[in-house]
Amino acid sequence: MTQGATRRTVIATGAAALAAGCGSNNGGDTSAAADSTGSPSPTDPTSPMTTASPAATGTSPAADTKKLASTSDIPEGGGKVFDAQKIVVTQPSKGRFKAFSAVCTHMGCTVSRVQNGTIDCPCHGSRFKIEDGSVADGPATKPLAEHPIKVDGNSIQLG
Ligand code: FES
Repeated sequence: MTQGATRRTVIATGAAALAAGCGSNNGGDTSAAADSTGSPSPTDPTSPMTTASPAATGTSPAADTKKLASTSDIPEGGGKVFDAQKIVVTQPSKGRFKAFSAVCTHMGCTVSRVQNGTIDCPCHGSRFKIEDGSVADGPATKPLAEHPIKVDGNSIQLG
């Protein structure tokens, strides 16, 4: 009787050992499951990209989204660079306003100033005419892209 009980115990223990053996194999799979738990983390890097949007929100309140400047901000025969919007607004002649992309067509720097009738890039010295954005001096070979604007009273708005 005692031997029978011992046998049952051995058999039960053996079955438990097999089960444990299978369990350890599953344990290896469990680590793979942990990896799959980690796979949602690539979703997390997406969140910082979403976080980048508020940086653009810092540009201006929604009500002023369209208004870029007042006409009095733009000197006659000169212009002004709006870094946040990457736009340069010029006034080639009294009351006539133009706007161009402030991204240099040479290698993509932002133009930094308007003086002596040209829009100047600080990176390699390209200069663009305030009248039409055409190249006055290289190394850029393409003009600055014109940007549509509307002048409403003394307000210059993005078109
Ligand atoms: Fe403007 Fe080179 S990026 S001159």
